[in-house]
Amino acid sequence: MALSVGAVGCGAFGKHFIELIRDHPEVDRIALCDLDADKLASCAKKFGIEECYPSLDDLLKTDIDAVMIFTQPWLHAPQAIAAMETGKHAYTAVPIIALSDGDEMLEWCDRVVEAAGRTGQLYMMGETTCYRAESIFCRRKAAAGEFGHFAYSEGHYLHDISHNLKNVAMWRWGAQWNDSKRGGIPMHYPTHSTGGIIDITGAHMTHVSAMGYAMPDEDWHLPDTTSGNIYGDMIGLYRMSDGSVARIAEMRRIGTPCQETFRLYGTEGAFERNFSGATWLTKKTQEPVDLGEVADPLPEALSANKGGHGGSHAYLVHEFVSACLEERQPRVNAWQAARFLAPGVMAYKSVQRDGELLAVPDWGDAPE
Ligand SMILES: NC(=O)c1ccc[n+]([C@@H]2O[C@H](COP(=O)([O-])OP(=O)(O)OC[C@H]3O[C@@H](n4cnc5c(N)ncnc54)[C@H](O)[C@@H]3O)[C@@H](O)[C@H]2O)c1
Repeated sequence: MALSVGAVGCGAFGKHFIELIRDHPEVDRIALCDLDADKLASCAKKFGIEECYPSLDDLLKTDIDAVMIFTQPWLHAPQAIAAMETGKHAYTAVPIIALSDGDEMLEWCDRVVEAAGRTGQLYMMGETTCYRAESIFCRRKAAAGEFGHFAYSEGHYLHDISHNLKNVAMWRWGAQWNDSKRGGIPMHYPTHSTGGIIDITGAHMTHVSAMGYAMPDEDWHLPDTTSGNIYGDMIGLYRMSDGSVARIAEMRRIGTPCQETFRLYGTEGAFERNFSGATWLTKKTQEPVDLGEVADPLPEALSANKGGHGGSHAYLVHEFVSACLEERQPRVNAWQAARFLAPGVMAYKSVQRDGELLAVPDWGDAPE
């Protein structure tokens, strides 16, 4: 059995997935679509793809089995739901983001979970952190019980806005860009910092108290924008469902290179990652971890060039294709994706209430 896959959005990120989808041994047909005819034509030519559509709506009228959506993140939830309702499995990079309304994000989580449950189609969130080498390494250690009980974890996404983020915001909005869209809310895109911890520990956030840092002379996170958010950095302290404590930092004003990663501390062992490398620790030992040597099995056609974000792209494609063909929930399914996103939404609400402790909603586990 093989899968037919439509890639939706041939933009800066989506174009890096086309080759991996095309070359997956269990994909027998690939289609492309983009509203921008030039981007579509350029990717079709570069990757030798003949089946092209001018929009997602047109692609959804075909008998394609599954769609991988790489459009602007605020479009993902409605587009994924439309795909599931027309009988397609759906993949997006995040469930949804919003410039201002956290309640709206939680409502979209409700709707994605409801659509996945009602239609029986699969939804997968393509969280890159979950397929980086440190996640693969820690999943193995957790499965072997070498952490003991998880006690404390730290997840962070360090990405100063001077690292191209202003340009990214402008090109994603295109002609709709205006100054009111500056800034944004770091905790409304928290999945790189929450995802690894939730995935590996199997626990989820139940409560949060969060605070923000407003940089002096800030020229991007400003009160006169749609979000009205003034904090470039947000840090949340969380109670987890297993009784452990987590700290999540979403930093857009930070004097470091970019990094999305985590540290995990258990009662018997711990994993630390910093800019100079990774270490596995026990009460008596410290061993450097060569993350370049850590890999999970992949089809041969994808393993030579695994793609960006720590080689996660190939694993994301393989997991989505495998889950669809095996008719099983993917690792980051609709229920888990909501657990990755909601802690950030509630963190920003807590920031706005001077660190008030707030409950984080939960959608439960995915059905078998
Ligand atoms: N680490 C990560 O997980 C990571 C990194 C980068 C980007 N992303 C995500 O990838 C997504 C895409 O980002 P990007 O930088 O490529 O954006 P982009 O703006 O460059 O590309 C989006 C493309 O989608 C197309 N599009 C929009 N609506 C469409 C429709 N209805 N039908 C067909 N095509 C449509 C647009 O024309 C555009 O070409 C975003 O959601 C972003 O958050 C994730």
